[in-house]
Amino acid sequence: MNDASGRISAVGMDQATLVREAKRIAAERVKPGMDMDERIDVLEMTMAELLDIQIMRPPLGRVATWASGGTGRATGKWLMGDDPRLPAMPAKPTLMDFFKNRLLLDPRGGNHLLQSARLAKDKGLPEKIVLACLLHDISVVGFIRTDHGHWGSQLIAPYVDEEITWAIKHHQALRFRPDPAFGYEYPKLYLDNFVDGYEPPDYIKAEWDYCVNHKWYGTAMQVCLNDLYAFDPDKKVEIDEFADIIGRNFKQPAEGLGFDGSPVAHMWRTMIWPNNFL
Ligand SMILES: [Fe+2]
Ligand SMILES: [Fe+2]
Repeated sequence: MNDASGRISAVGMDQATLVREAKRIAAERVKPGMDMDERIDVLEMTMAELLDIQIMRPPLGRVATWASGGTGRATGKWLMGDDPRLPAMPAKPTLMDFFKNRLLLDPRGGNHLLQSARLAKDKGLPEKIVLACLLHDISVVGFIRTDHGHWGSQLIAPYVDEEITWAIKHHQALRFRPDPAFGYEYPKLYLDNFVDGYEPPDYIKAEWDYCVNHKWYGTAMQVCLNDLYAFDPDKKVEIDEFADIIGRNFKQPAEGLGFDGSPVAHMWRTMIWPNNFL
């Protein structure tokens, strides 16, 4: 909405209305030919303008921006604490709260997790493998893409069986290694989407050698086998159908994820307040 001076303003808007309004205004501002990054910038700047506040986009992975001279100095106050653009999190958040209020905000990534877990469940695989599939890309969806298997396994390590952590850590490298014994082929998505001729580097291949002789290799391969990008679009999977499996296999800290003083609490807090200036 516009205030008396004609400026756009989010005064009086709840989270859902704010997001909807920002999307509407940003759609009018996007110009043909803008790439994805530019479109994201337009949307984020529109939301910041509505809120009359500066919102930091964490610079991890944006080194190229600084290499090209940066974007110049911004003015105004920076957002700290609850982000009005995101659903509120409870004081003691559970894994389920993170799914509902963070991970599933990304319909593509969130669905990928749910569908992978559903595949594993439908095959009658053990609960810990179903949970590994449900969480295998938690870092891509809610935290950081780069080296996602490693970040994801660290996030959950204090709360799950070590076999789950191991499988998630190594699925990242094993996804690049076809294994006929498991009927596992190199993912077509990688061939289609990565730069031509991409070859996994030596440190990934060294990880293969370590993994194939490990007692949990088969578990990591189950994560790879259920890590599909093509899935029946009519099959709707809900997070609630995994509530029991999460309850039995994920040790929820009483203080809430992010507040239990664990070595990874800061990572969960970063997902609660991803745009804090500090
Ligand atoms: Fe992955
Ligand atoms: Fe995946």
